[in-house]
Amino acid sequence: MGLFSRSDKPAERRYSKERMSMVNSQIKRRDITNQDVLDAMLKVPRHEFVSKKFISSAYDDSPLPLEYNQTISQPYIVASMSEFANPGLDKTVLEIGTGSGYQTAVLAEIFCRVVTVEYIPELSIKAQEILAKLGYDTIEYHIGDGLIIPATNETFDSIVVTAAPSKFPESLMRRLKTGGRLIVPVGVNTQTLYLAQKNSDGTVSKQAKYSVRFVPLQHDS
Ligand SMILES: C[S@@+](CC[C@H](N)C(=O)[O-])C[C@H]1O[C@@H](n2cnc3c(N)ncnc32)[C@H](O)[C@@H]1O
Repeated sequence: MGLFSRSDKPAERRYSKERMSMVNSQIKRRDITNQDVLDAMLKVPRHEFVSKKFISSAYDDSPLPLEYNQTISQPYIVASMSEFANPGLDKTVLEIGTGSGYQTAVLAEIFCRVVTVEYIPELSIKAQEILAKLGYDTIEYHIGDGLIIPATNETFDSIVVTAAPSKFPESLMRRLKTGGRLIVPVGVNTQTLYLAQKNSDGTVSKQAKYSVRFVPLQHDS
């Protein structure tokens, strides 16, 4: 079977080609090797999540502005954080910073369940509408400060934070299962992306991966 069916609209065919080129040139050519992550990046229609005025740049190698001074992350960073999160279809993930919902969709492709928290209600509602339209039904949405909610005792296999706290958020390690991973940018202005793992003896291993630039994490506490 060919890549496109006759019923595909021309615009969708064009976006699909752009997505393939994005994965080949921006994601594979760097260091992403996890096939599930590559497949998710190939599948999720980023153009559905960007603001209309940036739709022609939807598959560019860059973050793009969202409403309320927020950003949709660069595709490579989404892929890299998703790979560091060690996905699996029997695992759960907590995402702090739903934003446009783009990374939420990528995570929903590679985890069995996604809980996502967004501080700005309008962004969460818009993301929920887009994700519902695309058929994602394994996502639980919360509005508020992700460091505080969801106020349940649930622990996760992975936590992905897409806004930057000024200090390493030690409290989030309690929300991880043993062996679980926290992926978080830490710092002010320019940050370091950390991959932290909760060890079976209760200790935490932290690896500094590379420099990133994220919007600051908002605080209620
Ligand atoms: C860089 S954007 C997220 C980009 C997202 N990965 C995407 O693909 O669109 C960061 C988001 O984190 C949200 N945010 C900031 N502080 C937060 C907090 N304490 N809890 C939950 N969300 C927060 C911001 O409102 C913003 O929407």
